[in-house]
Amino acid sequence: MKPLFLSALMLGASAVWAASDGMPATPSAASADTERGRKLLVNRQETGCVLCHTIPGMKEGGEMGPNLSGLSQRLSAEQIRYRIADPRLLNPQTFMPAYFSTQGLHNVAKPLIGKTVLTEQGLEDIVAYLLNATKGP
Ligand code: HEC
Repeated sequence: MKPLFLSALMLGASAVWAASDGMPATPSAASADTERGRKLLVNRQETGCVLCHTIPGMKEGGEMGPNLSGLSQRLSAEQIRYRIADPRLLNPQTFMPAYFSTQGLHNVAKPLIGKTVLTEQGLEDIVAYLLNATKGP
């Protein structure tokens, strides 16, 4: 419990969901697009997801992170969003990058200060792809 509590403190009051195990849908969820999500997932420069994960529907895939097959059968949309936004909330030692957080970053290039790796729309596009592609057989 303690690391979760500390992370929640670090994120501040703006992210109330940080203390839970789920991040609610953002306004961009309404315009989520699975095809844009697919493109983001395979893009090594922008996200690098496939360097670490095997993802249904993609021929390239890494094995440093869990295989995302069947993901939507074990996690809810809120839980998936949460794990992509900031996996440190569940495991402070994780080596998966936090894609929708600016907390705890040091020495960031000036133009990128205060920016998250994924935009809100990008996060929702990826969640939409993963939900759809991992529904099972
Ligand atoms: C450097 C390797 C790495 C990269 C890059 C990476 N991940 Fe991960 N990911 C992990 C690891 C390791 C875990 C297991 C969580 C932990 O470390 O505790 C994980 C966990 C997850 C989980 C939870 C899976 C489960 O079964 O609980 C999801 C969803 C996920 N990653 C999605 C993504 C997405 C989407 C991207 C790209 C935007 C991404 N990851 C990029 C390494 C990575």
